Amino acid sequence: MDATKGESMSEGAEVVPGRWGPDRPIGIAVLGMGNVGREVVRILRDHADDLQSRVGAPLTLRGVAVRSLDRDRGVPAELLTTDAEALVARPDVDLVVEVIGGIDPARKLILAALNAGKSVVTANKALLADYTGELAAAAERSRADLYFEAAVAGAIPVVRPLIQSLSGDRVNRVVGIVNGTTNFILSAMDETGADYGDTLAEATRLGYAEADPTADVEGYDAAAKAAILASLAFHTRVTAANVYRQGIAAITSEDLETASALDCTVKLLAICERVPAGPGGPTPEEGGKERVSVRVYPALIPRKHPLAAVTGAFNAVVVEAENAGRLMFYGQGAGGAPTASAVLGDLVMAARNKFFGGRAPGESVYAELPIAPIGDTPTRYHVNLKVEDRPGVLAKVAGEFSHHGVSISTVRQEGHDDKARLVVVTHLAAEAALAETVAALSDMESVTSVTSVLRLEGTEE
Ligand code: HSE
Repeated sequence: MDATKGESMSEGAEVVPGRWGPDRPIGIAVLGMGNVGREVVRILRDHADDLQSRVGAPLTLRGVAVRSLDRDRGVPAELLTTDAEALVARPDVDLVVEVIGGIDPARKLILAALNAGKSVVTANKALLADYTGELAAAAERSRADLYFEAAVAGAIPVVRPLIQSLSGDRVNRVVGIVNGTTNFILSAMDETGADYGDTLAEATRLGYAEADPTADVEGYDAAAKAAILASLAFHTRVTAANVYRQGIAAITSEDLETASALDCTVKLLAICERVPAGPGGPTPEEGGKERVSVRVYPALIPRKHPLAAVTGAFNAVVVEAENAGRLMFYGQGAGGAPTASAVLGDLVMAARNKFFGGRAPGESVYAELPIAPIGDTPTRYHVNLKVEDRPGVLAKVAGEFSHHGVSISTVRQEGHDDKARLVVVTHLAAEAALAETVAALSDMESVTSVTSVLRLEGTEE
């Protein structure tokens, strides 16, 4: 194959002389042979010729680091090793793909690669959510690349659009469904009326939920992805600890039913947005900075909202930018082949950078916006109550909302003998005021229970 084929794809770019070419491959190490690693290896093999044409030099797999050698993994035995450190250090390894997941040993191995000037492609959202600064600094020092498209929403290109396509715009908001497991569960609850426990069991049986579903259903996975998206969107370092997080384990079939009555459904949303400078702090004119709010929680959204149509295990991310307007990215957010597609896209970029002497954009955190606490981000609420059905109860319930300064938008009542279900939807309210209202309602003699409190997103006030 002719190296000039690669050269012609990058007009005017200079090939780094002598190091790589048709007969001098770019060496790849893959760390981890789970669903994604297996597919990365398959694509490298099946599309070797196309990949070579796109890069200018062959991408040659030097080795795959696995935890144990006791299984047939469909790759030649001589490529498998349990010594990931030694594989990364090999002089004929130029690029490292990390698909092990988790913090250690992934972090140590990525740092070793970057410190040795080897570019890294990773799908590791947990690591990036907390350690991007450290990894990016190592990449910067050795002039290596760190790519991570696969860390957020699997196959969906959203990292590169935020870093590159929108680098001349101002992103104001990113709202996404970034966890397929929870979206599968909530969609199924919506469609079948089944409760959370049965739906989770079905999701596990079908392989959508892991044996231990905590990271997904408690929102940790979505929070890590939200931290990465917010960092990119707002040029500010946001870690998982900065993300307000609530999972879906408390969602009931009744929540879906009352949502449906409002022509809404329930989705686990990751919301990243700019909010005004803090109350009581300096105004923008006085140098007060706007802030960043990053949160993950289940919320009602109207069925006509674009994210309501995202069902099953699919993901979608809506980006709102000052000049581009509203953009929506949709597709498969997990799975071996879709995630490997994103890894390969990064791998081709990293390999081309090696071949032509380019660099990936580094970390951009110049804005350093403060993080707004959840209490400073007013939202609309959907409050579901069981009450005694007698004269004056509705007035007393409304009185508590009013007493705490929470304005009611709509109230719906359904009677069941001498009990009634009240569904109250508020206008924008502060979290603290709503919490005080709920505490007061729970203490009322005529209120049997406050059965759920959910936020409502995607509506006009
Ligand atoms: N467990 C994730 C999901 C996929 O359910 O979307 C990997 O981030």
